[in-house]
Amino acid sequence: MHVVKEAVKQSGIHFNEQEKEFHIQGKDFSYIFTILKNNQLGHLYFGKRIHQGASFSHLYTTEPKATASCVFEGDIAFSLDTLKQEYPAYGTSDYREPAFQIEQENGSRITNFEYKNHVIYQGKPKLNGLPATYVEKEDEAQTLEITLYDKLIETEIVLLYTVFKNLNVLTRSSRFTNKGSQKLNLTRAMSTSVDFFDSDYEMVQLSGAWARERHVFTRALQPGTQSISSTRGTSSTQQNPFIALKRKETNEHAGEVFGFNFVYSGNFLAQVEVDQYNVSRVLMGINPFDFNWLLEAGESFQTPEAVMVYSDQGLNGMSQTYQTLYRTRLARGRWRDKERPVLINNWEATYFDFNEEKILTIAQTAKDLGVELFVLDDGWFGKRDNDKTSLGDWFTDKRKLPNGISGLATKITELGLKFGLWFEPEMVSKISELYQKHPDWIIHVPDRHRSHGRNQFVLDFSRKEVVDHIYEMMAAVLKEAPISYVKWDMNRYMTEIGSVALPADRQKEVSHRYILGVYDLYDRLTTNFPDVLFESCASGGARFDPGLLYYAPQAWTSDDTDAMERLKIQYGTSFVYPLSSMGAHVSAVPNHQVKRITSLETRASVAYFGMLGYELDVTKMTEDEKQCVKEQIAFYKENRRLIQNGTFYRLKSPFEGDGNVTAWMVVSEDQKEAIAGYYQVLARPNPGFSRLLLKGINEGLEYRLENTAGTYYGSTLMHAGILLTGEFSGIEAEGIKHGGDFTSRIFKLHVIEK
Ligand code: DGJ
Repeated sequence: MHVVKEAVKQSGIHFNEQEKEFHIQGKDFSYIFTILKNNQLGHLYFGKRIHQGASFSHLYTTEPKATASCVFEGDIAFSLDTLKQEYPAYGTSDYREPAFQIEQENGSRITNFEYKNHVIYQGKPKLNGLPATYVEKEDEAQTLEITLYDKLIETEIVLLYTVFKNLNVLTRSSRFTNKGSQKLNLTRAMSTSVDFFDSDYEMVQLSGAWARERHVFTRALQPGTQSISSTRGTSSTQQNPFIALKRKETNEHAGEVFGFNFVYSGNFLAQVEVDQYNVSRVLMGINPFDFNWLLEAGESFQTPEAVMVYSDQGLNGMSQTYQTLYRTRLARGRWRDKERPVLINNWEATYFDFNEEKILTIAQTAKDLGVELFVLDDGWFGKRDNDKTSLGDWFTDKRKLPNGISGLATKITELGLKFGLWFEPEMVSKISELYQKHPDWIIHVPDRHRSHGRNQFVLDFSRKEVVDHIYEMMAAVLKEAPISYVKWDMNRYMTEIGSVALPADRQKEVSHRYILGVYDLYDRLTTNFPDVLFESCASGGARFDPGLLYYAPQAWTSDDTDAMERLKIQYGTSFVYPLSSMGAHVSAVPNHQVKRITSLETRASVAYFGMLGYELDVTKMTEDEKQCVKEQIAFYKENRRLIQNGTFYRLKSPFEGDGNVTAWMVVSEDQKEAIAGYYQVLARPNPGFSRLLLKGINEGLEYRLENTAGTYYGSTLMHAGILLTGEFSGIEAEGIKHGGDFTSRIFKLHVIEK
C-alpha cells in the first residue's frame, strides 16, 4: 500500500506535462483542469483538496449523448456541450452561455482559442488601472498565466489564476489582446467561469434597496439560468456583486461553500446556469448587457478580478477568509492597519442647515465625550442650501463658513479633533458654475432628454480632462486645510449613458470607462494624500464592493442607522466584508429612517461591530446621555483593535426563523479576548429559556466574563453557553429588570492569565 502523507499542506500549482493537467492546490481546496484534445481548456474539478495524482483523466465526462453536437467527425463522444469547460465560447457545440464573445469584421462570432503556453511564478501581478488583491511578499501566492491563441483572428487571451498560500482563495481574470490587424468587438468578457459537477446547491445572494442593503437571500438552484446583476452604472444596493453556492446542509459553521465576489464597482453579472445534465456553470464579470469593447489592432482589454473562496467550514468559514483577505491584502495604505478614529458626523444633526458656530459647538461637545474626528458632511460648498444646487463647485460657502474650510478645520484641529470633509466628486448640479462652464461634461446622449437623480447629473468620468479638473479642485481643498479624512459620496445611478468624447463604436464602453475614471481619481488622491483616511459612500451602501475597498478601507454601510435594521444590514455585509470596512454610527431617536425608538445602549451595542461614529446633535443630549456616550467611546477605544482585526463569528441570524434574535462575536487572534453581542427585537411574554453558545475561543482556557463574578472554560462557554436571563426573560421579577423591545447585551471576556 502506498500512502502519501502531506505533513504540511502547501498550496501550489502543478502542471502534469504528460496528462496536460493543471492542478491548483489551495490550502484546503483543489481546482483542476486540462488541455482537451481540441486544444481548448476543459474543467475537471473544484472542491475539497485532493492529492496530486498521476492523472485526473477519469474526471472527463465524455459519454456519447444522442442529441449532442460533436467537434470531430467520427467521434460522437467529444462534445463541448457535455464536457465541462474552463473558459467557454459559444457556437462550437456548447449551448450554454459563454465566458466571452468576440465579433469580427466579417460579422462572425466564432472563435477557436487553443492552448499556446503557460507560466507559473511566485507572487501576483498588478492589474493595470484596476483594483485587485495583492501580496506583500512573493511567497504569499503563486500565479498561473495561460495563453490561449486564435490563429484566424490573431488574438490572444491570457487567463490569470492566483492561489494564496494561507487563505482558501483563488483569484481569476482574463486579458484579451488583438495581435492582428482587424477591428474586433469584445461583446462579453467574463472574469471567471466554473462548471460545477452537479446542481445540488443553494445560491446565496446579498440583495436589497436603499436603507436595507445586503439582506441575505438563499434559493435552491433550478434548471436554467439564475442570476443577479447591475445595470445602474454602479455595483448597487439592489444586488451586491457576490454569490455563493452552498450545499443544502451547509450552515454558518459546517459544510461546503464556494464564494464568488467581483472586485468591481460598476455593472456586473453573476449567473449560474444549470444545464440538462445538472452541471452548474457559474459566470462572473462585467455585465455583457449594454457592454461592448472595441479592440483595435494592438489593443488589450483586462477584465477586473473575481475572488473565489472555498470553505468546508460553512458560511462563517467563507466570510472569515474574505474578511482576512480584504482587510490585509485588498485594503491598502497607511490606514489599513491603523486604529480608526471614533468620529462624529453632522449630517443627521444639521442636514444642510449649519454655520461655523453650530459646527464648533457640536465639535467641542463631541470632543468632551471622547470623539476623535469631526466630519463635515454635505452642504459646505457653493450655495448648497438643499440638494438642488452646487455639486461640482468645490469651494467654501462663505455665508455658512466665513473663515473657509481651512479656517474651520484649523479651529476644529485646535480643539484637539481631526477634521474630515464630504465630497461628491462624480456629480454636478445644473445650478452650479461647473455646469454653466461645461454643460457637455455630463453623461448624456445629444438631442435626448437627460433624466436626473436627486436633482443631479453624472459627470463623464470616461473623459480624462473631467477627472483632471475634479482632481485639481479637490486637491486644492486638501492642500489648503488640515484634512485627515474624506467621505466620498455618490448619490445617483446612470441614465442615457453616452459620452460626447467617444465615437459611435465606443459608446458601449462608457460605463466601464467611467468606473476606470473613478478608480483613477481615487488612485491619484490616495497616492498624493496618503495620510487621509478615505471612506466611500453611495446613498449609504450602494457601492459597498471590493473595488472601492482597495482605495478606501472603510465604507458607509447604510443610511439606515436604526439599530434593529442595522442588525440585518451588518449581518449580511459581514458575509463578505470585514468589520474594519463597515462605518457604523449611533444616531438620534426617533430614528430618521424608520422612526423607531431604541435605547442609546442598544444603538451603540450594534454600532460597536463596525467602525464607530456618532451622527446626532450631541449638544441636545442630557447629562446622563452624555455620560453614557462617554463610557461607550471609552469601551470602544479599549476594544477597537480587537474589533478591527479580530475574527468575526455570526452566531444567530436575523434571517432565520422569526428573525427575532441576532448574535455575533469577535475573537482576538490569540483567543485571549472576545466580545459578543446579543440582540432581541421584540420582547415575548413568558418565553422559554435561551442561551448563547460562543465560538472561536479556546476550549481549554479559562475566561472571565466582565460584569459577572464568574469564570468559565472556553469549552463551557462554547458548548453549554451563557444562559440568558433578566432583560430577555420578558417578565419583571424581583431583582430582574425587564428589557422590553429592542434589547441588547454585550459580553466581554478575557482570559485569566495564570
Ligand atoms: C448620502 C449619504 O449616504 C449620507 O450619509 C449623506 O452624506 C448624504 N448623502 C448627504 O447628501
